Amino acid sequence: MKLAVAIDGPAGAGKSTIAKLVADKYNLMYINTGAMYRAVALKAVEKGLSPDNVDEICSLIDKMKIKFNGDRLILNDEDITEKLSLPEIAGKVSHFAAIERVREKLVFQQQNIAEEHDVIMDGRDIGTVVLKKAPYKFYITASPEERAQRRYNELMEKGILVDYNDILNEIIKRDHIDTHRKINPLKKASDAVLIDTSNMTISEVVEKICSHINIQ
Ligand code: CDP
Repeated sequence: MKLAVAIDGPAGAGKSTIAKLVADKYNLMYINTGAMYRAVALKAVEKGLSPDNVDEICSLIDKMKIKFNGDRLILNDEDITEKLSLPEIAGKVSHFAAIERVREKLVFQQQNIAEEHDVIMDGRDIGTVVLKKAPYKFYITASPEERAQRRYNELMEKGILVDYNDILNEIIKRDHIDTHRKINPLKKASDAVLIDTSNMTISEVVEKICSHINIQ
């Protein structure tokens, strides 16, 4: 494995914002694994598939060529980043991400990327499964209300009109599915540094992470 930084945590904790900044600072490739699960959910929903259609979803994944360009996700040469933040996808993604064969396929792809590149990867199972041997692991969290407020602001800034309470409920539901699923549930790796960002600014979190990383 090359250089690897693992960041896990629940929805809306700020993982992607922080991972992008740390990636720029140390010249790491940023891999947003949540976007990969969202891409699978998006394509499955477009094809009218439900999480029960496991064989069909798996052959769909086999045809999906996912690449990252900075924080953009390119699927079969199309930049689908904007579509991935649609509330409809956020509401469904955890059901697709709970499928064992889906996880096996995406974890395999994520591990292959980390074999080839210096990476910072964020998700739910990075420190516990995907990059178990990563020398730097962080678990970033915040209260559900704070996370819902951040997600609300982010979506409104993108012009996506949403209701704060709907977002809070979706986050609580998604946290429940992510922490209770049988396969690779969201949990802090025993060797991860825990950071509660509820009362921290983005730059304070980045600074804290960088204070643990020993890269020139
Ligand atoms: O951006 P946000 O924190 O809301 O979520 P995300 O990182 O885009 O991840 C979307 C969903 O994908 C999560 O709620 C999980 O259900 C799933 N996921 C996962 O199971 N394992 C990962 N490594 C990353 C995401």
